[in-house]
Amino acid sequence: MDRLQGKVAIVSGGALGIGEADCLLFAREGAKVVIGDINVEAGENLASRIRDEGGEASFFPLDVAKEEDWLDMFKYTLSTYGKVNILINNAGVSLGKDIEATTLDDWNWLMGINSTGVFLGTKYAIAHMKDNGENCSIVNRSSIDGQVGESGLAAYCASKGSVTILTKSAALCCGEKGYKIRVNSVHPGYVHTSLTEKEAADAGMSKEDYFAKVGKMHPIGYIGKPMDIAYADIFLASDESMFSTGSEITVDGGWTAQ
Ligand SMILES: NC(=O)c1ccc[n+]([C@@H]2O[C@H](COP(=O)([O-])OP(=O)(O)OC[C@H]3O[C@@H](n4cnc5c(N)ncnc54)[C@H](O)[C@@H]3O)[C@@H](O)[C@H]2O)c1
Repeated sequence: MDRLQGKVAIVSGGALGIGEADCLLFAREGAKVVIGDINVEAGENLASRIRDEGGEASFFPLDVAKEEDWLDMFKYTLSTYGKVNILINNAGVSLGKDIEATTLDDWNWLMGINSTGVFLGTKYAIAHMKDNGENCSIVNRSSIDGQVGESGLAAYCASKGSVTILTKSAALCCGEKGYKIRVNSVHPGYVHTSLTEKEAADAGMSKEDYFAKVGKMHPIGYIGKPMDIAYADIFLASDESMFSTGSEITVDGGWTAQ
């Protein structure tokens, strides 16, 4: 019940899916949680569900592609909770197009959220964490597609590859400068969320058929649940992972073992 006791966590894209699971789990383990998302209704709703369970949470509107939104998010978190210890850079979008079909507009839109969003979050988290004297952790949401390629996800793979390596660069920077900030990445395989439901629709398939098909592509035989990923996130967010920085935790039902 107290793996994150005394810590303040921001979760980007925290209103739905994997981010929602993070917010629920982190609050149950004692963190004060700030849910940052463009989906105001779902974010407010989740914050009130967490408070109803006896946890502490609030929603703040955040578009991760916008620098001013990040500055406002940190200002809000510091004025409300006094500090920030954890950032989960989770918000992301997907686009089912290969390199030939991807337009420059597609590329710029997706990279703005998945890559620039993580850059901005990491940069400003370090600025707001480095002098607070407490153990801090940044967890960046990459993907199996930040480790291996998938032909139908060109911009998505590029964005997640950038997250994998930016994480290592930021981890080295914090280590060299003596900051008490660790930076790691988490790499899910396919997980049942609204993102993969959209992929099913893009592929013209029912979600049942799509999930059965992609489930078979994982050696374990099925796709993941949001909480499967949240358990990896909480390990990296907590002081249990004090010797981990610049590392990748893969939670993929064996996808990248092949
Ligand atoms: N679901 C999967 O199979 C899977 C696999 C690997 C990695 N991921 C990654 O996990 C993360 C979460 O995905 P999910 O499956 O939970 O998706 P989801 O669509 O269920 O949830 C994503 C959340 O991000 C929010 N969001 C979208 N754009 C945003 C923006 N510009 N600013 C702030 N919030 C924004 C959405 O409103 C939503 O609440 C993403 O980075 C995704 O790429 C997902």
